[in-house]
Amino acid sequence: MSNPKTMILGTGHAVPDKILSNADLEKMVDTSGRWIQERTGILERRVVEPGTPLSELAVLAGRRALEDAGVDPADVDLIIVGTVTGDMKFPATACFVQAALGASNAAAFDVSAACSGFIYGLQIADALMQNASYRRALVIGGDILTSMVDWEDRDTCILFGDGAGAAVLGPAKEGRGILSTSLRSDGSLAHLLYNPGCGSLNPPTEENVRKKIHTIRMEGREVFRHAVKNMTEILRQVLRQSDLEITDLDMLIPHQANLRIIEAVSKKFGLGSDKVYINVERFGNTSAASIPIALDEASKSGRLGAGDHVGVVAFGAGFAWAAGIIRL
Ligand SMILES: CC(C)(COP(=O)(O)OP(=O)(O)OC[C@H]1O[C@@H](n2cnc3c(N)ncnc32)[C@H](O)[C@@H]1OP(=O)(O)O)[C@@H](O)C(=O)NCCC(=O)NCCS
Repeated sequence: MSNPKTMILGTGHAVPDKILSNADLEKMVDTSGRWIQERTGILERRVVEPGTPLSELAVLAGRRALEDAGVDPADVDLIIVGTVTGDMKFPATACFVQAALGASNAAAFDVSAACSGFIYGLQIADALMQNASYRRALVIGGDILTSMVDWEDRDTCILFGDGAGAAVLGPAKEGRGILSTSLRSDGSLAHLLYNPGCGSLNPPTEENVRKKIHTIRMEGREVFRHAVKNMTEILRQVLRQSDLEITDLDMLIPHQANLRIIEAVSKKFGLGSDKVYINVERFGNTSAASIPIALDEASKSGRLGAGDHVGVVAFGAGFAWAAGIIRL
């Protein structure tokens, strides 16, 4: 294991005020609160007012992370936003964040890796900080998946919520930092979870919009199966890369897609609920935001502190999956 070069200096998150409960969804589609709770663990999720840009949440999360880290926006060299629901097709949402924060010296770009976007961003930032002259990076994971949900499709619309989370990275000290990361993908399974609309394949013609081609398509059971398998394998890999055992982790922060996925992965490692951070019941699946929101909550509530070992692991559309071991 090599010495970490980059550590997390601070975290922040932002979610909309508006709560959409399972009882609210019962009035919108043919579902029941009990079914949603039993199959997903979700009780409620936060949703934006339609038309709210992702940058609004991303800027708030980013500003809170910078304050937490005590870093001036002008000292940020690099802004990466992991998202599949940026404000616009272009420019990158990271550019809107850069302008709003006054990060006048930063490079800015987005990463499209769906629910794994934050960990993808983390590894890219870590690598750039080792090989280029960047000293401070702001990595944000954020999504407004409710902007691409078909509210008549009960298979998908009950799952998702909106939010953004952020981490500020800087030079590592005292053995703390990003110990290892791994990123994987399998595009041959893209058809199991995707949004076919509004790209070059299916431009937003009247007919395409009528066919709701801009909404999420998903084979839930298949996604579930691949998620458990791949999250388990990649977590084992980053533990090996870090020369750590699962028992060395103070906490595992898995992507919050479904409580049953989280429990299945935890069971493979023999982890009790005290070692696994879970907030899916309050936020649903917030895609790229789920891990940094959980990381911030766990840190601010005192469940995690300096020197603790944390595992992060995510899986999502692509398929793209990722994991990391961080010493805070
Ligand atoms: C979507 C998911 C919750 C469905 O749970 P499941 O236990 O696999 O349920 P199934 O899809 O097998 O459906 C079981 C039944 O419930 C029904 N059902 C599906 N959605 C429903 C809903 N919202 N309310 C009530 N019934 C529902 C189905 O129609 C099916 O009925 P049938 O047996 O009469 O055909 C689950 O597969 C899942 O979470 N998958 C992973 C999704 C995910 O994480 N995506 C994002 C990855 S980042």
